[in-house]
Amino acid sequence: MSKKGIILSGGTGTRLFPLTKAVSKQLLPVYDKPMIYYPLSILMKAGISEVLIISTPDDMPKFKKLLGDGTRLGMEITYTIQENPSGIGEAFILAEDFIGKDPVALILGDNIFHGSSMDKLLIDPQLDGPGATVFAIEVDAPEKYGVVHKDSSGKVIKLLEKPKNPPTNLAVTGLYFYDNKVVDIAKTLRPSARGEYEITDINNVYLERGELSVSVFEKGVTWFDAGGFDALYKAATFVKDEQNSTGNMIGAIELVAYQNGWISKQDLDDMCIHYHNSGYGGKIACSLL
Ligand code: G1P
Repeated sequence: MSKKGIILSGGTGTRLFPLTKAVSKQLLPVYDKPMIYYPLSILMKAGISEVLIISTPDDMPKFKKLLGDGTRLGMEITYTIQENPSGIGEAFILAEDFIGKDPVALILGDNIFHGSSMDKLLIDPQLDGPGATVFAIEVDAPEKYGVVHKDSSGKVIKLLEKPKNPPTNLAVTGLYFYDNKVVDIAKTLRPSARGEYEITDINNVYLERGELSVSVFEKGVTWFDAGGFDALYKAATFVKDEQNSTGNMIGAIELVAYQNGWISKQDLDDMCIHYHNSGYGGKIACSLL
């Protein structure tokens, strides 16, 4: 069984127009790195070295130029096209061959996570077990997200996609771990009222079967869905301030590859030299001190 992960980087990014008229949302800068580095680094921290990137026909060449086949990170990165933005649930159908008989993680290409307790959660062996795991966090405007609905005893009874009157302020974040049944479940989906194959519908199937774990992030985990102007700006400011105050890089894929033992110190040093001019290489070197 190998660990596999998908980054969904499709969509038209209309919530960021005109920024995303000519550039994919997931390639926009979040301070000193392209946005996709952050979700990719999360999959890597979960020990996942086989990654499929799903994107649009227009944007795919740019992702390939940025990340290639993953060799320089000791990874295997492949690509699949999503012709139309038909929803997150479609990812598992597009990725059926890639997933094969293995479990799979999915992360949305505009989701940024950070926190030391987060890093511990990512190596929990339960994530590779049967069923599915999603992560929730308290937010101010839950109606913009998938929301956790609980009964009076605190038991999760349903996940609701962008409810007008959210029953809790617990948002479901864009990081999901599934066993291999997710492919068959995805095939049973019907488009929602907004015309999309909803990831929330997949999660509700697992919930009905008693196979969904909803893990609530502790304080200290920071999460951004960087798909709007303010969140994008806040995420960039957060990364800048956090990196400057701690001296540790967030979302530096080269560094995570080295920490995972997927590339040698020499490989990392070579990359640092390559990125010397922008200061990115120097910051990676400092993170190791
Ligand atoms: C999607 C999911 C939603 C989830 C959110 C996290 O929403 O449908 O359940 O809470 O990602 O970023 P979208 O970004 O497609 O609006």
